[in-house]
Amino acid sequence: MNRRKKLAELVSITRKFLEQERDRGVREVMQHRVKRSPEVEALDDLATSTKDCQKCGLGRTRKNLVFGAGNPKAELMFIGEGPGFDEDQVGLPFVGKAGHLLTKIIESIELTRAEVYISNIVKCHPMKNPDRPEMRGNDRPPTQEEVGQCLPILLKQIGIIKPKIICALGSPATRALLNVTEGISTVRGRFYDFFPPYGNFGEPIRVVPTYHPAYLLRDPTKKSQVWEDMKKIKKALATGGSLHERADRK
Ligand code: URA
Repeated sequence: MNRRKKLAELVSITRKFLEQERDRGVREVMQHRVKRSPEVEALDDLATSTKDCQKCGLGRTRKNLVFGAGNPKAELMFIGEGPGFDEDQVGLPFVGKAGHLLTKIIESIELTRAEVYISNIVKCHPMKNPDRPEMRGNDRPPTQEEVGQCLPILLKQIGIIKPKIICALGSPATRALLNVTEGISTVRGRFYDFFPPYGNFGEPIRVVPTYHPAYLLRDPTKKSQVWEDMKKIKKALATGGSLHERADRK
């Protein structure tokens, strides 16, 4: 039976059941709520409190605020620069061409997008010309002012998720988290200690900068270096003895 037929059958069975219940005099349907983890609750609360944000000009020109997506208990987080046109359309991070490459990067260490958490330093699409969102080459890096207004959302996300490792994609993400002055080609693949201002951390989170996938699309010769960085991350995740442990991760 194909999926559509199966669904139609399920709807018909459910309708029959509800009609029978109504005929028996039942007037209320009991709702079973799925128990949600504290991380899911906290991320949902944060998303709700930020969904109408107008702290910078990007709020006026966005279609969707791109909060982030993935496992609320992820050991590994990827942080990019900011949503592009595709991400703004659907409200999810890294869904365009660079996103497809990020999926491959994640899969190169035998993880899936659902197992990691993906977000950005700014949550709304920075554009050169906000009157032409769909125009090619219209993306721009976020300004310092935009990063300054938006960064607390990311820092709170990190405080809730408590990843072991954050992979910072490109220079803007790296500089937003770390006090480094060298370029991305120097800092990539290194492990930096990071204590986020929200949440309790006995041990630092390790931040590992690497090249942004959009940069790899322009210069594929740099791919092998990202693959090297990912191998280091995989090894660190597997031998995370010195990193803080959480027994409740799935
Ligand atoms: N580039 C980014 O930095 N973030 C996205 O979400 C998409 C593209």
